[in-house]
Amino acid sequence: MTSSDSLDGTVALVTGGTSGLGAETARALADRGASLAIVGRDRKRGDDVLADLDGRNGDGWCEFYRADLSSQESVRRLADRFRERHDRLDVLVNNAGVTRDERRETVDGIESTFAINHLAPYLLTHELVDLLVESAPARVVTVSSGLHTRVELDFSDLLGEHDYSGLQAYGRSKLANVYFTYELADRLHGSGVVANAVDPGFVPSTSLAREASLRNRLLLGAFSKLPLPFKNDLQTGAETLIRAAVAPEFADVTGQYLEDGEVSASSEASLDEEARRRLWDVSAGFVGVSPDWDIER
Ligand SMILES: NC(=O)c1ccc[n+]([C@@H]2O[C@H](COP(=O)([O-])OP(=O)(O)OC[C@H]3O[C@@H](n4cnc5c(N)ncnc54)[C@H](OP(=O)(O)O)[C@@H]3O)[C@@H](O)[C@H]2O)c1
Repeated sequence: MTSSDSLDGTVALVTGGTSGLGAETARALADRGASLAIVGRDRKRGDDVLADLDGRNGDGWCEFYRADLSSQESVRRLADRFRERHDRLDVLVNNAGVTRDERRETVDGIESTFAINHLAPYLLTHELVDLLVESAPARVVTVSSGLHTRVELDFSDLLGEHDYSGLQAYGRSKLANVYFTYELADRLHGSGVVANAVDPGFVPSTSLAREASLRNRLLLGAFSKLPLPFKNDLQTGAETLIRAAVAPEFADVTGQYLEDGEVSASSEASLDEEARRRLWDVSAGFVGVSPDWDIER
């Protein structure tokens, strides 16, 4: 899209909009006139982003929703609070994510990377899908990663109880994002809601590694200073995300994996339809909803 394409009247919800790629995406959408709901855990970071967004989107509004997406109750409350205030949603950006070297469990007793990176987008989309359908044409963008290509899901140990590595848990959660997107796109076929997964590329300037070990943070810091043959600044990283969210040429694109601003190939494992349906059903169980939720609503 060009900077002159107006998003006046568009309502977007960006999880993880308080930092890194999410904040950059929020800025870009606000600059084109979109109204924005930004989600994060930290009030101060939320207020800082709101101050930055202030005045960018003319008659549009910007709101911060404090929610901890590791908690299913908090995800449900977030959706309820949004629905109390708004009767439309044009763009849902499932962007919030973490990577953790140490295994942690959420208040729901679920390994936290899987819970925040995969189950939260699954549940939040479930809670808002009727609003998206009513607002159609609408889009769901879920931020995956090129690291999804390095892994396969292990359904016998989805929560890493027997064998946990931070990198593997992260990669698997990002593969889950691709499975989720492909299955969602199929299930929403004909509804006017499109769903795509995005790889923003390697963007070392975000805070993603803040919960990694000191050793890994130092390694990442050193690596990020090396001259690389590709651009990896925040703006470049957010570009594909922004295009998936609002660019006219992606209005009818659905069930795709995007990188470098274009439709691209995801891993061979991600094309396993049986695995993606299985993950969908298992995820429904984890968050306590019917796996037929697209049909119910
Ligand atoms: N940076 C990269 O190289 C890269 C590469 C591929 C994919 N990605 C993906 O891009 C997305 C954005 O990451 P980023 O690099 O921009 O990292 P970031 O700067 O750390 O941003 C992550 C965002 O997620 C939010 N978040 C984390 N845990 C949360 C929770 N429990 N509840 C609510 N919000 C939570 C954070 O908000 P608060 O801390 O304020 O709550 C923050 O706004 C992630 O999905 C990541 O996996 C990044």
